[in-house]
Amino acid sequence: MSNPQNFVLDRRRLIGAGAGAAATAGLAAGAAAETAQPVKLQLPCVVSTWDFGVAANAAAWKVLSKGGAALDAVEAGARVPEADLKNHSVGRAGYPDRDGHGSLDASIMDQKGDCGAVAGLEHIAHPISVARRVMERTPHVLLVGDGALQFALEQGFRREELLTPESRKAWKAWLKEHRYHPVANSEVRTYGKDLGTPGSKTNHDTLGMLALDAHGDLSGACTTSGMAWKLRGRVGDSPIIGAGLYVDNAVGAATSTGVGEEVIRSCGSFLVVELMRQGRSPRDACREAVQRILKRNVARDPDFQVGFLAISRVGAWAVQKGFSYACCDAASQTRIVESESFS
Ligand code: GLY
Repeated sequence: MSNPQNFVLDRRRLIGAGAGAAATAGLAAGAAAETAQPVKLQLPCVVSTWDFGVAANAAAWKVLSKGGAALDAVEAGARVPEADLKNHSVGRAGYPDRDGHGSLDASIMDQKGDCGAVAGLEHIAHPISVARRVMERTPHVLLVGDGALQFALEQGFRREELLTPESRKAWKAWLKEHRYHPVANSEVRTYGKDLGTPGSKTNHDTLGMLALDAHGDLSGACTTSGMAWKLRGRVGDSPIIGAGLYVDNAVGAATSTGVGEEVIRSCGSFLVVELMRQGRSPRDACREAVQRILKRNVARDPDFQVGFLAISRVGAWAVQKGFSYACCDAASQTRIVESESFS
């Protein structure tokens, strides 16, 4: 099998500027009826959100290319940004909540519809692996806070400090402003090198990853430190099955990034999969999900972002401009995909 190629479209504009602007959907997936330049991926394949998805996909690919299971692939992939100390929106070094606590959210779901998740997990660097243990070793789906930590420690996960000197410094800088207005990507928007439009290359949050293995089985993973400077106890969409992640092996899978509250309100990833079940292409399903959010949200906040990523069970995909993603399969050619944005 030839080497996979990772390829990324830089997200140049994710949030529409100014009043009335709103979310943009990014998506990967597709179907025969796809409207704009569908590109068929070979099996196995993996897609994930943002530019850090390139490294995550490479880890997932190591599993998939040897005939491994999609579930193992997405766990391996999600662990990459979780361990990346330069990444302030996933895993260790993620920016903390308003009170300085680093807390992480993650979920995982497999081809059987089994799933596990953790929310508000502190002191454990790899929430995705704890989520998998919840799925495989408990009768439950979601563990939160101290209970999730207790479970992780009982399972042998190492307790560690999640904040790095850099993330602590950024939190202290934020505290100086004495304001409480957490927004997605505020870490980059306010304190990062990229002070420009949210949506540029260095501006990202959740890792959502969807994989389709050589057996045709789907799995997904979603992991984040959530909104920087969030209210303590706030949980976003990422650990909520049906919001941040949903997998149905008979149809496809979806995951999300951006303002989790909006995705939870709309049962976003479940909605995308259900729309695909009704015959929409993944592209159109993602678009419809974003448009529903737009219709409901405009009065609440004109400046927010939401992105969905979806894959059909046959592994075809398409891309929409305005959303950065990484993708790889067994093909050895880099593809540049033209796409569009909408708001
Ligand atoms: N999408 C990540 C969050 O809202 O926490």
